[in-house]
Amino acid sequence: MGKLRIAVLASGRGSNFQSLVDAIDSGWLQGEISMLITDNTEAFAIERAKKHGIAYRSMFPNDFASKDLYFSAIAEELKKIHVELVVLAGFMRIVRKPLIDAFPFKIMNIHPALLPSFPGLHGQKQALDYGVKISGCTVHFVDGGMDTGPIIIQAAVPVHDDDTEESLSERILKLEHKIYPQAVKLFAEGMIEVSGRKVMIRRDAFAEVDGMINPLPEN
Ligand code: GAR
Repeated sequence: MGKLRIAVLASGRGSNFQSLVDAIDSGWLQGEISMLITDNTEAFAIERAKKHGIAYRSMFPNDFASKDLYFSAIAEELKKIHVELVVLAGFMRIVRKPLIDAFPFKIMNIHPALLPSFPGLHGQKQALDYGVKISGCTVHFVDGGMDTGPIIIQAAVPVHDDDTEESLSERILKLEHKIYPQAVKLFAEGMIEVSGRKVMIRRDAFAEVDGMINPLPEN
């Protein structure tokens, strides 16, 4: 099996990007990050790319006549280098049709809440403000909506009475760093099948992560 060619799109800190780099470096994930694309020259993700010798490009919507043209330029760039999976890692934009159509069910996102609850920005704060007792994170395929695509993996954490946005975010982030590489690995190994809204994963492929809500049947 060849190495999966991955592109990462990130806007900021890039700790999820780092978790993929680490999973690849350790040999656990058979992949290579062909390119990092950012929409922010200040993104710390760029430092991480430099440190690991990963090619990176900054591309800004303002340099294009429309958002659609921005996303078709990204699609073109990624097709040119034969990317097989696009991973959104803290990429703070809604991906538009030209990129989604170029990579059907080949774009993943991670969201810091248990979707469909609390989509959009500040998922952790939304959960805290609402008063839920359990929150978590979700890896899903990207469709045209805001955090609405088919769900691949979710993991749950408790919400404590004295949590702040920071403390809850930190607890969730630890699980993000586990389930995102896990989802990419399942994809790399061809273990993911999408049927309508539902994502099926071959059970034999699934290494359980603490706290993961695993929808797979017992057998
Ligand atoms: C992560 O918590 C990710 O789930 C969230 O942004 C953070 C990025 O951190 N994404 C969203 O809120 C998307 N709506 P990172 O840059 O360290 O990976």
